[in-house]
Amino acid sequence: MLTLPTWLDRFIFEELGAKYCPSNSDMTVIDWDKSDVLNYLGTYFPRSYTESYIIFKKYFKGKTISKDEISIFDFGCGTGGEIIGLITALCESFNNLKKIRITALDGNQHALRLYEQVLAKFQSQINIQIENRPALIEIDDFYDLHILETILSTQYDIIISFKAICEFVTKERFEQDNPYEHITKVLLPKLQNGGFMFLADVSTYNGVSQEWLPKMMDKGLHQIDCKVVTKNSGYNELFTLSHSQRGYDRSKITWRLIKKSN
Ligand SMILES: C[S@@+](CC[C@H](N)C(=O)[O-])C[C@H]1O[C@@H](n2cnc3c(N)ncnc32)[C@H](O)[C@@H]1O
Repeated sequence: MLTLPTWLDRFIFEELGAKYCPSNSDMTVIDWDKSDVLNYLGTYFPRSYTESYIIFKKYFKGKTISKDEISIFDFGCGTGGEIIGLITALCESFNNLKKIRITALDGNQHALRLYEQVLAKFQSQINIQIENRPALIEIDDFYDLHILETILSTQYDIIISFKAICEFVTKERFEQDNPYEHITKVLLPKLQNGGFMFLADVSTYNGVSQEWLPKMMDKGLHQIDCKVVTKNSGYNELFTLSHSQRGYDRSKITWRLIKKSN
């Protein structure tokens, strides 16, 4: 079981006013107000932090990087638990790292603002330089998705998306088409050769698409020229954590780490 770092626990609960308050499935955070997003911060931020930290710490084990700068794009970052988990794992795994450049996209301004505050706190405690580009963009439909192709001007070493694509399913952003397929298709060309893309999502049955999300994710990835390098074992993976508001908490996600085919 992972315990949320003390500085992070104090910062989100005591300074930012986060609350532990689990919601129902098929939630659409994109529409939430500040008070709802503070519930998100106290409930789901610690879970995404934990999942990301544990998965990436394990994936980076025994690996080295030749450069001292890494770039990350997060699609649907929300309050950014997975970004803090990922960059913590990067800092602990690669001591030659000097700079991390992050582009973090989300359509909810309250979530994005809270993420920026947590990141600034994180930055104040480490020697690595972090350059952050928050992008407040709501992807309404196919048209907006393709605008992304021009907005994202560079290629990234790491592209991640945690529990965001499920909201595209619930809101039928691309009508009945598979959002995992369309979003991955647009983002994969933005991946540096040698880099990786990581998709994580809740493993529930979606009431709108009437389909299990892990199945939908796999169907979507099947349509694309990519290779799944590693994934959760079984149907979903269980993570356990503790923090000041909850001595024992658990989350389950489905995840795939993919690379370009050649
Ligand atoms: C369930 S939250 C996950 C947040 C974060 N990735 C995490 O794991 O804690 C989903 C996020 O996706 C964002 N999102 C959903 N639909 C979106 C859209 N159409 N355009 C931009 N952001 C969207 C929401 O605002 C929300 O912050």
